[in-house]
Amino acid sequence: MANNNLIIRIAGDGGEGIISTGDFIAAACARSGLEVYTFKTFPAEVRGGYAMYQVRTGNAALHNPGNTFDIFCALNSEAFEINRDRLTPGTAVVYDDTFSPEIPEGVHAYPIPMTVTSKQLGLKKAKNMAALGALSHLFDIPAKALKKVLADTFASKGEDVVQANLAAFEKGAEQAEDLRKTDTWKLPKASKSKKAKDVIMLSGNQAIGLGALIAGLDFYSAYPITPASEIAKYLAVNLPKMGGTLIQAEDEIASISQVVGASFAGKKAMTATSGPGLSLMSEMLGFAFMSEAPVVVVNVQRGGPSTGLPTKHEQSDLFAAVYGSHGDAARIVLSVENVADCVSMTVDALNLAETYACPVILLSESSLAFSSQTIPTPDPDHIKVVERKRWDGEGEYHRYAMTEDFISPMADPGTPCALHIATGLEHNADGTPNYAAATHEAMTAKRFDKLKALPDAYMPVEIDAARGAEKDEKADVGIIAWGSSIGVVREAITALRADGIKVKGFYPKLIWPMQVAQFEAFAKTCRTVLVVEINHQGQLAHLIRAASTLNPVSHAVCGGLPFTPAQIGAKVRELL
Ligand code: COA
Repeated sequence: MANNNLIIRIAGDGGEGIISTGDFIAAACARSGLEVYTFKTFPAEVRGGYAMYQVRTGNAALHNPGNTFDIFCALNSEAFEINRDRLTPGTAVVYDDTFSPEIPEGVHAYPIPMTVTSKQLGLKKAKNMAALGALSHLFDIPAKALKKVLADTFASKGEDVVQANLAAFEKGAEQAEDLRKTDTWKLPKASKSKKAKDVIMLSGNQAIGLGALIAGLDFYSAYPITPASEIAKYLAVNLPKMGGTLIQAEDEIASISQVVGASFAGKKAMTATSGPGLSLMSEMLGFAFMSEAPVVVVNVQRGGPSTGLPTKHEQSDLFAAVYGSHGDAARIVLSVENVADCVSMTVDALNLAETYACPVILLSESSLAFSSQTIPTPDPDHIKVVERKRWDGEGEYHRYAMTEDFISPMADPGTPCALHIATGLEHNADGTPNYAAATHEAMTAKRFDKLKALPDAYMPVEIDAARGAEKDEKADVGIIAWGSSIGVVREAITALRADGIKVKGFYPKLIWPMQVAQFEAFAKTCRTVLVVEINHQGQLAHLIRAASTLNPVSHAVCGGLPFTPAQIGAKVRELL
């Protein structure tokens, strides 16, 4: 069996160490020089409920967690039953032998005494490490790397815990050795040209923290919320080392207020939240727009509204990000496709906030927040970092001076001769409150006009329009996707083209202001335009209809999970 790509799924209950087991496999694969893309889903409760971790690994670029899995490890019978329908002939299943499932025809079964082993070793928690030992033996996952990450991770729990887990690992491997291996799955070999040191493995949240450090973040205000909290956890450790400050605020309103204050004080400032927190921040986002304060809010989307599905995947905060404000207010909205974007587009978000002196919302997603991916090691020396336009001290200072590009130079508090106030009231050029109709008209236009150049100036949009002879041909279907759905569409398009179907992709990452000209130009090259997204209303499709002349077909679903390439492929075939 061609083995350049392997997908392993581990499932059980929250509290059974599913996440740790998946993390260990992902780390061992990355250390072997393989590409890694992980996906995990778990309940909102701290203990109990179905938890699942999928590791996709291979020696070529990976864009999504894959259609289904090759190897399945079930720590209990419920997890087995949930996944039963996905057990196609050829799949390998490793399971705890306390239950005796009915194994579908053609599936390779490996019962391992996980529970019994952990009980014998006096550490119930070690059940997952017995499973890991078996997986390592059966599928060539390097035992040395797994044992190292195991020992490092559990070191803080005490030497006895480490030793019991190592013993469980060895026992699981021995038990697997006693079974006859009937399948051919094994870990792919890393490509020779790729050295492990050229890549790092990060979660989306860690990558956002790293991007912020590279961009020169000075101040971060933290208020915890799933799935964004890990950004604060990363920055709490690393921002002070770079001379920055992190404060834990009392709520989201305080967080965004502190960020606006820090920005007024001349600092690069950011916070992160999720849907309910973004709602609470909307008043201060209006203030930041009015007072022209550069601020960045990272919104890690989860299933909503309200507390919704706090640990699940959804792309449903687009309307809130673009329009969630009182009055005539705008903001720049960016969205990330993958962990690499989480680094580079956090830099972009801070750069754009400083350049355009306005709020920027960076949309991430829970599936990316929790996903670990290998990415090329970022080189800060080759990443452009932008500082805000500051007053040069010439002439008289006017905080909201009308300039050619509508962007007014800023002055840090204490700058001689540059005393000014930042107010949410309408104001004239020097910042004095002024409610005259002409002032409000002019200042509102100024705040919007400075963003008009952005769609042509910032070009993260990408058109996957095929190469060579196909390039100029009209596609039967053109797919527009945003966020992590892009990676799924990339793979779906490759498969569809292999079947001779003419299909193109369009991947906007600057969501607002919308790059209308690019959308319309793309649509001209396709017979049907399809927008795919994980929400109920088809939010991007709505925005496209509102802002352009297009009327795309919307395929919008919200089941708490990302699309698979096969689902996108099926939708395209329906439209042919
Ligand atoms: N030996 C010793 N300890 C082990 C172990 C082993 N073999 N395997 C796992 N553990 C520990 C882990 O280190 C972790 O310890 P920690 O809590 O000190 O970090 C703990 O057991 C849980 O294991 P882990 O692998 O991280 O998770 P899990 O697969 O058991 O699932 C979660 C638990 C993640 C689902 C659950 O705890 C959780 O956090 N749910 C989400 C809560 C949330 O965010 N709700 C939203 C609120 S709005």
